[in-house]
Amino acid sequence: MTRLSGITPSGHVQLGNYLGALRRWAVEGGEQDLYFISDLHAMTTTHNPGKLRALAGEQLAVLIATGIPEERMFVQSDLARELGALTWVLECTASYGEAARMIQFKEKAEGRSGVRLSLLTYPVLMAADILLQGASEVPVGEDQRQHVELARALARRFNGTYGEVFTMPEAVLPKVGARVRDLADPTRKMSKSTQDKAGVVFVLDEPDLVRRKIMRAVTDAGRTPAYEPGTRPGLANLLDILAACTGRAPADLAEEHSSYGALKETVADAVIEVLRPVREGAAALLADAAELDRVRKAGAARASARGEHRLQSALRLIGAG
Ligand code: TYM
Repeated sequence: MTRLSGITPSGHVQLGNYLGALRRWAVEGGEQDLYFISDLHAMTTTHNPGKLRALAGEQLAVLIATGIPEERMFVQSDLARELGALTWVLECTASYGEAARMIQFKEKAEGRSGVRLSLLTYPVLMAADILLQGASEVPVGEDQRQHVELARALARRFNGTYGEVFTMPEAVLPKVGARVRDLADPTRKMSKSTQDKAGVVFVLDEPDLVRRKIMRAVTDAGRTPAYEPGTRPGLANLLDILAACTGRAPADLAEEHSSYGALKETVADAVIEVLRPVREGAAALLADAAELDRVRKAGAARASARGEHRLQSALRLIGAG
């Protein structure tokens, strides 16, 4: 079994990424697993090249500080040639309608002008990420499930039409922390790229700031905590976050708190403690450019060697070369 997953440097790593993804990558990782920074994916909307490069470095430092073994990580653009070639092969396997149906594309493209073509084709690049490495399991949050389904459909179609090359991937979703919501607006997921940062806890935020954001989280007019995700989404989000930090059931945690204020304090303490080693570890690594560069180069060489035979087989079978 090979697990593969990625994170896009479209902003600073936030709590949802950490609880829903990175933390699990560190503890669940098997020998064959691979995790990467999908910097090519961060170019599908307006971006700043220098900032993107810095964010990719920051995310690499966060991944290492999270405890993911360094030999299992790489930066996507270091495999730009391989992935570019495989993306083309897969675009020739996919239909326009399949790409246009992606919820994330619709959400990000709707009502905008100058939408980059790459925003439409990005799930195909994601399929290339997955299929190049022969991943059988793809740990992602709910928001990425549809993209993994596309990768699966393309693998099946390619294998059936041209010959067996690709492993069938499957999305695996976490039981807790699958969807951390924005603290200021619990109707939307917490996201790196949200403009209003008040409801987004970043992994590298100072403890004081983390506490302030949590204490100001939007709840409701009630007073006594109870776990009711349908009617009290803000409160349920705080309980879900606390559950993800402590490994306990959200309903039990609600019962242990007599007021919203007390619950928020507990959530702030728990989040600060969970993030502390990551923040400190990443800061130390960011001060050591040579070390980050070493990890990056070694990871790229391994990931590239690993995918090469699949790319060559796919090109040959589809009639190239
Ligand atoms: P990205 O960078 O948006 O998110 C990285 C991971 O964090 C999860 N996540 C969340 N989990 C819980 N609550 C949230 N609020 C939250 N926000 C994000 C995401 O589900 C994801 O697991 N396209 C991907 C990266 C990617 C990839 C891949 C993943 C590129 N190629 C191949 C798997 C396989 C992305 O933009 O993730």
